[in-house]
Amino acid sequence: MIETAPAVLTIRPAVFGDLDEITDLESRSFPAPWKREFFESEIDAEFRLNLVARAPDGRFAGYVFCAWVLDEIHVHKIAVQEEWRRSGLGTALMKEVIAFGLRNDSYQIFLEVRPSNTPAKRMYQKLGFEISGRRKAYYPDGEDAIVMVRELHRS
Ligand SMILES: CC(C)(COP(=O)(O)OP(=O)(O)OC[C@H]1O[C@@H](n2cnc3c(N)ncnc32)[C@H](O)[C@@H]1OP(=O)(O)O)[C@@H](O)C(=O)NCCC(=O)NCCS
Repeated sequence: MIETAPAVLTIRPAVFGDLDEITDLESRSFPAPWKREFFESEIDAEFRLNLVARAPDGRFAGYVFCAWVLDEIHVHKIAVQEEWRRSGLGTALMKEVIAFGLRNDSYQIFLEVRPSNTPAKRMYQKLGFEISGRRKAYYPDGEDAIVMVRELHRS
């Protein structure tokens, strides 16, 4: 278990018992949500960093799902419960991903974000992510994706 900011929340690896709450939050947070079965297959897949955050009373607060290939980490999904948004949890989850990448000598973290998703873009920029490209019509509704990258071991 990793105690982290915000101080009252605990961040730990995702388990199958988290799936209902993950799927609920996912469906409220994304126009084209991942299905439950997809999260299920990710939870015990190899080369993954999948974390959830909970309050001391057990209330579910958020998750981040990532995969890594060689020295790159890809953030697949991150979401924070509405009641916990803007309290630093998204940042805390991403800092766990960054710390993991540094511990494992990863070279970079990358992710896709909708150009219209100002909250997420701002959070990533504050964490040192930079825009590195654009994927045309990446999302099912035709919106492009911005690719953002956080270098980890710049010499
Ligand atoms: C994106 C998301 C994970 C951010 O989580 P969060 O816990 O609210 O973010 P934080 O509290 O750590 O915010 C960090 C910074 O991001 C920016 N930010 C976050 N929410 C914002 C908002 N609604 N409007 C503008 N900027 C915002 C701010 O710069 C903020 O720093 P500040 O509060 O000191 O100004 C959350 O809004 C969410 O779950 N959104 C729905 C799912 C989603 O879009 N995921 C990202 C997909 S790429």
